[in-house]
Amino acid sequence: MLQSKHEESSTMASSIHSRRLKYLSLGVLVLQTTSLVLTLRYSRTLKEDAPRYLASSAVVSAEVIKIVVCTLLVFMENDFSARAMSKLLEEEIVRKPLESMKLAIPAGIYTLQNNLLYVALSNLDAATYQVTYQLKILTTALFSVSMLGKRLGSYQWLSLLFLMAGVTLVQWPMPTGGDSEQKVLSASNQFVGLMAVLMACISSGFAGVYFEKILKETKQSLWFRNIQLGLFGFVFGTLGMMAYDGERVTQSGMFQGYNKITCTVVLLQALGGLVIAMVIKYADNILKGFASSLSIITSSLISYFLLEDFNPTGVFFTGAALVIAATLLYSYERKPTSGSTVKV
Ligand code: C5P
Repeated sequence: MLQSKHEESSTMASSIHSRRLKYLSLGVLVLQTTSLVLTLRYSRTLKEDAPRYLASSAVVSAEVIKIVVCTLLVFMENDFSARAMSKLLEEEIVRKPLESMKLAIPAGIYTLQNNLLYVALSNLDAATYQVTYQLKILTTALFSVSMLGKRLGSYQWLSLLFLMAGVTLVQWPMPTGGDSEQKVLSASNQFVGLMAVLMACISSGFAGVYFEKILKETKQSLWFRNIQLGLFGFVFGTLGMMAYDGERVTQSGMFQGYNKITCTVVLLQALGGLVIAMVIKYADNILKGFASSLSIITSSLISYFLLEDFNPTGVFFTGAALVIAATLLYSYERKPTSGSTVKV
């Protein structure tokens, strides 16, 4: 009797702890998404005399920071014992190469996605990017249905239609002033940016669901899995950097063009990876969708008032409102028949 009371109170304490971490991680995700999108956009459009930093190098730097932080967290999980830590690394990474290789798939896809983010934000304004990137809700839902066997309710399917309508409206060509050359340039920028976001949506959906599947099927901690993900991410990112910017790296080094803003972007991107990992663990992916919808509103307002690179039309507002309404509607019918949470 006494023992069951004790068990009950410790379960309650751990559920309060998880709930706190859930809201904390979601709040940090809203702030992180908003600040990353705006800082990244600013860093790619800032007019400077010196050459701009290499986006491919920023992706590699963020991976290194994530690996260092996750290694410290795993070290903490193992009561700061170097012996336990090296034993774990040997058992799980050296002795199980095939298990580790599973992480190469999401890592490769995330590396591509992280590079696409720079292409997208070099060509699209922050608000258009944010709203269009909401299509990842649709891709994630479709991958969850096909790979995890999840079932969606009627409200959720309806909300996906709303989502697509909203994103189409946001992409509706806006009347632009200026000469025709400028128009052609901005239309081709818009197209490149749009393709980059669409590819990122597919990769985000697939990699997210795949990572969720690995986490659910194995017993290793989230931070440990993130070290594996980061190690592959680092290798792929470095290969990508050498293939794409190799000549410039050998000429002027990997950190050419880095300044305070670049360092902020890199730190924010690394923080994003860690927070998303926490959200997957402590909250659920529906709430992750809410967080990104909230950050659409904040970054649109800042993009309009502070960066002045965005002139919303009525059509844009209608589209953005539809996207946010779709996110709410999607979350309305929670936990359908399969019992597990639907990833957004
Ligand atoms: O937009 P989305 O939710 O797909 O963002 C995923 C981002 O989080 C990527 O930058 C990816 O590298 C990072 N990530 C991570 N660790 C995880 C899952 C995602 O660093 N476990």
